[in-house]
Amino acid sequence: MNNRKNLIVITGGAGGIGTACTKVFKDYPLILTDYSQDAVDKAVDNLKKEGFDVTGIACDITDKKDIEKLTKYVADQGSLKALVHTAGVSGTVKDLRKVYTIDLVATELLVDAFYELAAKDSVAILLSSMMAHAVPPNEKYDDALTNPQAPDSFDILSQFVKDSDMMYNFAKRGVQLLTHKHADKWGAKGARIVSVSPGVIETAMALKAAEEHPERMELIKQATPLKRNGQPEDVADVIHFLASDAARFITSTDILVDGGVIHNIKKMY
Ligand SMILES: NC(=O)c1ccc[n+]([C@@H]2O[C@H](COP(=O)([O-])OP(=O)(O)OC[C@H]3O[C@@H](n4cnc5c(N)ncnc54)[C@H](O)[C@@H]3O)[C@@H](O)[C@H]2O)c1
Repeated sequence: MNNRKNLIVITGGAGGIGTACTKVFKDYPLILTDYSQDAVDKAVDNLKKEGFDVTGIACDITDKKDIEKLTKYVADQGSLKALVHTAGVSGTVKDLRKVYTIDLVATELLVDAFYELAAKDSVAILLSSMMAHAVPPNEKYDDALTNPQAPDSFDILSQFVKDSDMMYNFAKRGVQLLTHKHADKWGAKGARIVSVSPGVIETAMALKAAEEHPERMELIKQATPLKRNGQPEDVADVIHFLASDAARFITSTDILVDGGVIHNIKKMY
């Protein structure tokens, strides 16, 4: 084992919010991962040129064997400070099972695998979405969302979910429910688990959604108290705080980073 203490592992590290997260953790050793090896190599090269202590490995987060490779790679390099899980897809992916699997099932696969590496003061930070706050609590589907690996969970959700945007919102509610489900187990190690719910953040993901629903995106901007969309750095700064000792008593909860818009969106329903 190398001795890289306080490793920050960033999934979706080549994506919009993932890239912004790498920048705020310049003082830490980083491990960056994403779906494609090519994207990981490019991101790692760029960061090395900027003086970062960074390595990387590709991982399809829906593949248990890839996750095993990732956690072994991390364990071989040192001790875990934070898992920053930003990898995900939006409702522009029209395959409902794919959205459910990438955004929710894979999140729990990572939480389970990284629990083995967690120690006192480690933290898992999971990306949810403000849209999760538009899904009301309901025991009819919350049990399925809390147990995404159960064989009947997808079928149960399919009775409530009409399209891929809705599946995205439900899956992201599931991410929040997972923080409650796993908090005691992580807490017994002195480790924390939280989610972060961004509003519209100007990354490739949001720009694609904006192409699909331009009027909806404009309405959201106008309904935002701060009258602008978010930038990846707005989210990364909060994630930096959540990984720090200043957030040592924050666990099993969600932090909204949405410019205040979801409150106004809910009033419109
Ligand atoms: N951008 C927004 O407006 C917004 C709003 C709310 C929530 N979020 C959430 O924030 C997170 C990051 O979003 P972003 O805007 O940076 O998106 P992005 O598309 O820029 O980045 C997502 C990354 O996830 C990776 N990924 C997708 N499927 C994967 C898989 N199976 N295995 C490994 N990696 C995979 C992609 O390759 C990509 O690099 C996502 O979970 C997203 O749902 C984003």
